[in-house]
Amino acid sequence: MKLLEERIQKDGVVKAEGVLKVDSFLNHQIDIKLLDEMGAEFKRLFADAPINKILTIEASGIGIACIAAQHFGVPVVFAKKAQSINLDGEMYCTRIQSFTHGKVFDVIVSKKFIGPDDHVLIIDDFLANGCALNGLIEIVEAAGATVEGIGIAVEKGFQPGGKSLRERGYRLESLAIVDRMDPMTGKITFRPQGGD
Ligand code: G4P
Ligand code: NA
Ligand code: NA
Repeated sequence: MKLLEERIQKDGVVKAEGVLKVDSFLNHQIDIKLLDEMGAEFKRLFADAPINKILTIEASGIGIACIAAQHFGVPVVFAKKAQSINLDGEMYCTRIQSFTHGKVFDVIVSKKFIGPDDHVLIIDDFLANGCALNGLIEIVEAAGATVEGIGIAVEKGFQPGGKSLRERGYRLESLAIVDRMDPMTGKITFRPQGGD
């Protein structure tokens, strides 16, 4: 998606260790007009899929998912990160290893909000190693629901998450794929994609 690539090029900040800061439009201050265009693009990319629910994970996925959901006319469910949980059987639960934060989270979704009839689009802001995505997929599959697709704002193509999800056959659409970024020069190289 050209608009997002241009914005990343203009306002993204390349940090050491493969981290891309997008705090001025995606992760801290949020550009709602940009999110609306991104939502429209997700709708275009998944127009033929019978999506009736969007699933994301707190915190940064929620804004993107909510604005996308307006284009699909479906509700959003967000997985919650819990430090310690009482497993009472009412929740789907999975464990996510975050490399960026060096932490392990328990992640929960109430069984009330996802079930066998659901056709789910999973949305998140970043795809790096794919640990968060794998956790969300596990929850959808544990619920007996269908993963219709995965929509990502920024995929870091130099980390293995995207390749692995595509190899497993998931329909993964990333609006921008960063193949290389240089913290010295700030240069960002995007993977060419169809659709722009
Ligand atoms: P993974 O899920 O793909 O394995 O990635 P990882 O554990 O490394 O990511 C940890 C968190 O950092 C995630 O947010 C992810 O979205 C975010 N992240 C990963 N790489 C980048 C990056 O280059 N730039 C930015 N801005 N974020 C990145 P989270 O833990 O779910 O936190 P939240 O911010 O959504 O609350
Ligand atoms: Na995130
Ligand atoms: Na984040």
